[in-house]
Amino acid sequence: MHLIDLHPATTDMHQLVREGMQRHPRQLPAWFLYDTEGSRLFDQICEQPEYALTRTEIALLEARAEAIATALGAGVVVEFGAGSARKVGPLLEALKPSAYVALDISAFHLQQALAALQRAHPGVPMLGICCDHSQLEALPPHPLLNNQRRLGFFPGSSLGNFKRRDAVQLLQRFRHLLAGGPLLIGLDHPKPAAVLEAAYDDAAGVSAAFARNLLHRLNLDLQADFNPELFWYRARWQADHSRVEMALISCCDQEVHIDGECWRFLKGEPLVTEHSVKYSPAMAVELAKEAGWRCATRWHDAADSLSLHLLEPAD
Ligand code: AVI
Repeated sequence: MHLIDLHPATTDMHQLVREGMQRHPRQLPAWFLYDTEGSRLFDQICEQPEYALTRTEIALLEARAEAIATALGAGVVVEFGAGSARKVGPLLEALKPSAYVALDISAFHLQQALAALQRAHPGVPMLGICCDHSQLEALPPHPLLNNQRRLGFFPGSSLGNFKRRDAVQLLQRFRHLLAGGPLLIGLDHPKPAAVLEAAYDDAAGVSAAFARNLLHRLNLDLQADFNPELFWYRARWQADHSRVEMALISCCDQEVHIDGECWRFLKGEPLVTEHSVKYSPAMAVELAKEAGWRCATRWHDAADSLSLHLLEPAD
């Protein structure tokens, strides 16, 4: 197993933070949430009783792995935002791909995930690429990728963490990176507000800790001086946008410094940590079309709470 490190430089992170802090409301790219501690907390979110998405998607993948593998065909599996790579196992079993390539923003997490996955699937060659896949121009040259059909895998409803325009651009980028190959994408559906707000603000407080960790991360990596205790966490369903908005709300008027630059927060002012857009099957078809994909097949769980869409290039 081999790891290629293309993590954005700290100078780029400074610039992104400046841009995010100048927006109204303030908002940073969602990938900032995933340093080593953030990735660990996200894994804990997936274990919370209120957050059913991961469990439901894994069960669906296990139940339909053979059919999905047949529809995908032969090639190398390329997973975008692999995290702890807990979902790809059934696909590797059913597909027996030529290789597995995992992309993720957290190098430490990626290394650990790939080491564990390699033990479980010793016959599948593996490669990790630490990067922000939303900015990746091309997959780096590597023998495991050369002359192989590419099968994209983007589970977990991670597309929901992108704004509409960015989601379209990301799907277009994946079309380019997959060079004619298909994309299997998992998307969570809209649900009652109470269900979604509980999923994103669990009783054990893990979602809140995950959001607050963003401030710890800024303190550590970008010499900021946030006091995370002076922000409270809020998750709200915004029906007009079909999304959950997660934010840290300033408890008081305060000043925060990031790399020597001063930013004022008013009492009640939000710092949006994430959006999680929920796509109905019809919304997914429309989005895919806009990005040059067509939905060839859809698999869903018994309650039809989420979908795995097989996208193929539209032309
Ligand atoms: C990674 N992503 C799909 C998660 C979601 O459901 O939007 C991130 C998350 N944030 C808080 N809980 C889950």
